[in-house]
Amino acid sequence: MVIASGLHNIMTAAARKAARALNRDFGEVENLLVSKKGPADFVTAADRMAEEILVEELSESRPGYGFLLEEGGEIKGTDPSHRFIIDPLDGTSNFMHAIPHFAISIALERNGELVSGVIYDPSRDEMFRAEKGKGAFLNDRRLRVSVRTTMETALLATGIPFMGRPGHAQFLKELHKVSQQVAGVRRFGSAALDLAWLAAGRYDGYWERNLQLWDIAAGIVLVREAGGTVSDITGKKPLDGTSILAGNEVIYESLKAELKQVAP
Ligand code: IPD
Ligand code: CA
Ligand code: CA
Repeated sequence: MVIASGLHNIMTAAARKAARALNRDFGEVENLLVSKKGPADFVTAADRMAEEILVEELSESRPGYGFLLEEGGEIKGTDPSHRFIIDPLDGTSNFMHAIPHFAISIALERNGELVSGVIYDPSRDEMFRAEKGKGAFLNDRRLRVSVRTTMETALLATGIPFMGRPGHAQFLKELHKVSQQVAGVRRFGSAALDLAWLAAGRYDGYWERNLQLWDIAAGIVLVREAGGTVSDITGKKPLDGTSILAGNEVIYESLKAELKQVAP
């Protein structure tokens, strides 16, 4: 049984509402894929619409809180101690290609500290949620990070830089180093779900560079509350959001050591 705060429930309700709009649009994408224009503009509109729904729902319940939004940028609230950090659609490329692996990510920051996180995967109806000190949950089930402790058995997640992003050569170095030691490396295309799945014990470790705070803020709360460790790639905490390294305690340390050997 999840005993969540009222505000946490408001966050999950907002995520579900925005997800209904995304789901409708996801159905449309399949039709648009075959049109000459393609779904790119349509997806941008879907993304904005989801963000608007989230802002509307959350502001209605907590009018003074600020926002850090992927699409809308920073909105200062009258209450300077609280802000929501939101990625309305994480996994945009998947969405655009009609691949059902994307999520809505909402975090709450209080006095500069991440205290609550919600990541909702509409395709699987999986609601990942965590509040500081109250544990992490998938729907109503309590989450723990995995107990796998050897690199040989570890399944890792990562992100591959794409066109317009820096760090291609560095990524190849890291992959070359790490992939020789582990059971597998996945790149599924949603940083938020990578962290949620790590919290759920599906992945044992995760690293990625050149992210933004909205990609990972909710996931950080989930991983911590599921008993995992999270920092930037060099092991520095608190994170500024630009790079991330996470795992169960043991794999986190092993992965950090491997990455250190190929550090830029
Ligand atoms: C992206 C996803 C992806 C990560 C990219 C992000 P978006 O977010 O989280 O997994 O590798 O760096 O930009 O653009 O789909 O919201
Ligand atoms: Ca996004
Ligand atoms: Ca994102």
